[in-house]
Amino acid sequence: MTPFEPVLTKGLGELDLADIDVYESRGGFGALRKALRDLTPDAVVSEVSASNLRGRGGAGFPTGKKWSFLPKDGRPRYLVCNCDEAEPGTFKDRMLLEKTPLQIIEGLLISAYAIQAKEIIMYIRGEFLEGYRVFKNALDAVRSRGYVGQKIAGSDFSIDILLHRGAGAYICGEETALLNSVEGKRGEPRLKPPFPANAGLYGMPTVVNNVETVALVPYIMTRGAKWFASIGPEKSPGPKIVSVSGHVQRPGNYEIPLGISMRELIDEYAGGLRPGRRVKAIQPGGGSSAAIFEEDLDTGYDYESLAAKRTMLGSGAVVVMDDTACLVRSSMTLVRFFEKESCGQCTPCREGGQWVHRLVARLEAGEGTDADLRVLNTINTTITGTNLCPLGDSIMPFLSSVLTRFPDEFAAHVKLARCPLSAGSSESAA
Ligand SMILES: Cc1cc2nc3c(=O)[nH]c(=O)nc-3n(C[C@H](O)[C@H](O)[C@H](O)COP(=O)(O)O)c2cc1C
Ligand code: SF4
Repeated sequence: MTPFEPVLTKGLGELDLADIDVYESRGGFGALRKALRDLTPDAVVSEVSASNLRGRGGAGFPTGKKWSFLPKDGRPRYLVCNCDEAEPGTFKDRMLLEKTPLQIIEGLLISAYAIQAKEIIMYIRGEFLEGYRVFKNALDAVRSRGYVGQKIAGSDFSIDILLHRGAGAYICGEETALLNSVEGKRGEPRLKPPFPANAGLYGMPTVVNNVETVALVPYIMTRGAKWFASIGPEKSPGPKIVSVSGHVQRPGNYEIPLGISMRELIDEYAGGLRPGRRVKAIQPGGGSSAAIFEEDLDTGYDYESLAAKRTMLGSGAVVVMDDTACLVRSSMTLVRFFEKESCGQCTPCREGGQWVHRLVARLEAGEGTDADLRVLNTINTTITGTNLCPLGDSIMPFLSSVLTRFPDEFAAHVKLARCPLSAGSSESAA
């Protein structure tokens, strides 16, 4: 295994990292004190920029750059933390929320100081009941120690953290839909530009960051940008928590140095496949990502290497499918998810998702035709790239990639009028 010291998950399973005494005894809130005492807000932004930290929420946008986009025009600024996490296959933020809320809070406070925010809003997925409870208790403890509120840790910096619970819509993870949701409006993505940096929450300059992104900030403060930048590839550095699921022996969240191979991730961290099985397809970056295959196992797990394979790292959810998986069925499950979660504003997403789901369900049920296959092979260009937000563009990548790589498996569903891998079907044709 590539040598590496985890930071976000260190002590997990051995210590109660949600206990403020435990957290402080291990140096917790030292990074916040250091930032408030020794660094100007601009110096914190510079340090995070120098680390090359890229947002862990999906798009991989450089965090320091995002912070430096805020206009210096005297309007109040907001920091919003995105803990909506509903991407298929992703379960890292939930773990951080439930097990390590204090490093999230410390990261939020430092980030808010850096951008000179007026308020922090922590947006928590509605289904995360336990995470909400743990986070709220941790926040109460932090407040009682003077790290949240007026004149934090004896400095001139004052700020509060407000909790906002979602109501179970995947689209509210998209940052502008999330802002609408906080404002009490329908959770629908906004047209961009303007971007949140200029017109975000209540029309004010806003930064939206992912849970894992902010949780990394305290370590950049204490260990330095150079330490962070030295882990993994130059453009994709740092530790990353990857949620590995599917046909592996040890599914779970693993903190890795970016840049290790997919093979190392699957074999060394996740325990490899079941005996006698081979990799058939892997989604490397959640439900929205195109598949890679057995021949791609030596690809690095980092933003650039996966982009070179025409897929993406996304939120860091790796779903492994071995040679027992029916890719028509896997595609159907994913397309159904995107169809159901569409907010309905864009015709290609709203109508396209519904029709593609019907087509794939028909194939899966053994009722598809050659004409259905022809439509599926050409529909990508009319659905992808024609929507307001990336949800509509997430309908086709996995389906198109496996259809291109395994055309015979799709054709066999038509020819045999059933799945060639199993006798049964799971969903009747629409
Ligand atoms: C449909 C959709 C769902 C998303 N869900 C999440 C989510 O649950 N959590 C998250 O951090 N980002 C999510 N994103 C990405 C956010 O829009 C945004 O890029 C991210 O929160 C920015 O944080 P970062 O810069 O720290 O990565 C989603 C994007 C889309 C299009
Ligand atoms: S792409 Fe889909 S989810 Fe996104 S705004 Fe359009 S209809 Fe809504």
